[in-house]
Formats: sequence, structure tokens, C-alpha cells
Amino acid sequence: MNSLPIGVFDSGIGGLTVVNAIQEHLPHENIVYVGDTARVPYGSRSPGTVTEYATQIAAYLEHTGVKEILIACNTASAVALDAVAARTALPVSGVIVPGAEAALKLNGSAPIGVLATRATITSDAYRHAIEHLEPAAEVVSVATPLLVPLIEEDCMDEPFTMKVLQHYFEPSRLHECDALILGCTHYPLLADQIARVFGRPVADTPTATALALAESLRRHDAFTDSSETGSLSVLLTDDADRSLGIVSRRLGVRITETRKIDLSELAAPENGPSGSPTA
Ligand code: DGL
Repeated sequence: MNSLPIGVFDSGIGGLTVVNAIQEHLPHENIVYVGDTARVPYGSRSPGTVTEYATQIAAYLEHTGVKEILIACNTASAVALDAVAARTALPVSGVIVPGAEAALKLNGSAPIGVLATRATITSDAYRHAIEHLEPAAEVVSVATPLLVPLIEEDCMDEPFTMKVLQHYFEPSRLHECDALILGCTHYPLLADQIARVFGRPVADTPTATALALAESLRRHDAFTDSSETGSLSVLLTDDADRSLGIVSRRLGVRITETRKIDLSELAAPENGPSGSPTA
């Protein structure tokens, strides 16, 4: 059991920000990552659709043999974590609670800001997690849907990306906040630019998530016994495109293999994993 990989999934390739932190903090663990690139984005979809996709992927991962499931996607963590956990006996975790905890550690008494997709903001998952941990905390939430395409197009350093950030920050109450949650898988890739506009600390959700995963493995006595560097299989539901190269290069993530899986395998995981090398 301990030698099984950790199953991580996301709507696309942004969840590699979380994988990168896992590779840093749990370097010997093997990881199987599913990126649902054929059905990305999740952030503009309904909770019902995201839940259907997330439960399919979790069932697929369970069927392929993983010891724990981590939902790296904020949108899926926000709307589907309970449904995924209800359908598997494996430990399941997400990114919302670690992100909320990391922000509360940075926070004084001012509100905590959250930037995320529309679906995550509408779910109020971060607000609920923060209020559960600190009932007096105030939360300022802003949907920032333009940021994912800018990151996937490698426009992080373009002047117009700063303008888009200002477009979101200036009319909002984010300037009253003293900590910020980057509530979307991709946003850590824009952390420097966001920190420049925000001027205050930004919570490191990927690191907090990797450390929470390590704690879960410890609780379940599930650390790998291997002292080799862990492998990373990236399974995508569509052909790999240039955004995989952009994100993985920017992060420096170590990918062992990339394969395409067919959506029909997600819908019926008992058919078993196959996969062909992607372009
Ligand atoms: N992975 C999604 C998230 O973290 C962002 C991309 C999408 O909208 O699917 O919310």
C-alpha cells in the first residue's frame, strides 16, 4: 500500500503548482496526476457538472491504484470534495482548508482577500473554511477569470497583465486586506505580480497543501519506504499542448511520463487504464 502513488487531479495543468510543492516536500513519493484538459475550465461550470467530472476522475484514480487522493483544483475542492470523499474509502483532501489556514497565519485583524474562479467564489468555500477556523474573520472575495488564460499564454510578465490585476484590485476592497489567498491552481505562477499590486503577503497554498498531505500520510502511516526520487505520471484527457510546457518549465516540475487517457476511461474506470503517448 505505501508504495502506491498519490493520486492528484485538476481540471487541467494548473494543479502542477501543487505537484511541484509535493515534489519539494515529499520527494520520494510517486504521483499520478490527472489533468482534465478536454473539459477545462471547471471554473465557469455548474457545481453539478464539476462534481460529476471530479467523481469520475477520483473513481479512475482509485481503480488505477493510489493510496490517497488530493484534489489540486480549487473549483473541484470547493464544490465536489464531499461528494468525492463519500464515494471512496481512500483518504481525500483538497486545497481550500490548507489555503485558509495559511492565510490566517499571515493575517492580523484586517479582512482576508480571496482571488479565484467564478465557481469557487460563488461556492463561498473559502469564506466558510475561514469562518470555521476564525469566526470573527472577514473575507473579501473577487472572481478573477481573466488570469488563467493570461498564465496559460505565458503573459505573466506582460504590462497588460498588471493592468488586468489593477482592473480587479482597484474597484474592490482588496486593498483593505492584509493577507491574500490565491484560490486557483494557476495563480501561484503570477504570485510575484499579484504581490506587487497587493503590496502585502500572499498565502502559499501549494506549500500548505503539500504539508497537509504529508500530515495525512503520517496519520495513515502511508509514507513510501523508497529512498529513490519519486516518479510523476501526467495523464491528460486531451493531447498535451504548449501550456503544459509553459507551466512545467516555469515551475521546474519533474515529469517522468505524459500520456493521454480517453474520457471513456474516466466514465468507466473498470475498463482499466490504457493511454498513448501525447504529442
Ligand atoms: N484548476 C482551476 C481552479 O483551481 C482553474 C482552471 C479552471 O477554471 O478549470 O479553480
